[in-house]
Amino acid sequence: MNEINYKQHWETVYTNKPFNELGWYEKESTPSLELIQSLNLPKDAKIINVGVGASTIVQDLIKLGYTNIAANDISSKALAVLENQLDVKDKHKVVFIEDDLTNSNQIGNFAPFDIWHDRAVLHFFNSDADKVDYVTLLKKVLKPNAFAIIATFHTDGALKCSGLELTRYDENTLQELLGLDFKLVKFFNYEYTMPSGENRLYIYTLFQYCPNT
Ligand SMILES: C[S@@+](CC[C@H](N)C(=O)[O-])C[C@H]1O[C@@H](n2cnc3c(N)ncnc32)[C@H](O)[C@@H]1O
Repeated sequence: MNEINYKQHWETVYTNKPFNELGWYEKESTPSLELIQSLNLPKDAKIINVGVGASTIVQDLIKLGYTNIAANDISSKALAVLENQLDVKDKHKVVFIEDDLTNSNQIGNFAPFDIWHDRAVLHFFNSDADKVDYVTLLKKVLKPNAFAIIATFHTDGALKCSGLELTRYDENTLQELLGLDFKLVKFFNYEYTMPSGENRLYIYTLFQYCPNT
């Protein structure tokens, strides 16, 4: 069986198609933004958007007044597309971190964070080793009592995205993966409509990191 080169895969995805035609493009990241705002954290809270791609969430967070935003992706092309969308006057509010969440050596340099936001990234990690790396990194870079917003394909959602196999979740399997240091604060299902008009069922979760409680 041929090993997939994931970095190459994602570089090609963002090189071959305009970002606003990709199957996960959202004009507005409404459920994520509502969860972030519901936390009522100061506007200089440190928010990391992992596997952010070229998502409009970064611009929207800036519009809402947030000033301390990290944008991570495995794809340098995605981050370049994202950076190009930003006003020059806002660029100092965003740090761009090219790094692999399953083999990270950069994100820790920018920690600790108040919010970890992941939409449509964790579900691409299918091996136990990759899932453990993800959770280990999450725990390493979050402040105690900080929050993780994780949105993945729901167990009743699609089986593949971007041609890749997925691990789908519900609130219980996400809780099991993250472990008891994470308290589930809120979750809801969300039907996302792709640019093609097809629907995809996601689960959105908000966890609080409460180690040693
Ligand atoms: C389906 S897209 C979602 C993009 C964005 N979060 C959004 O909601 O629009 C998945 C993203 O995860 C990124 N990604 C995949 N594997 C990654 C990894 N191991 N480390 C960091 N980013 C990764 C991809 O480059 C891509 O931008």
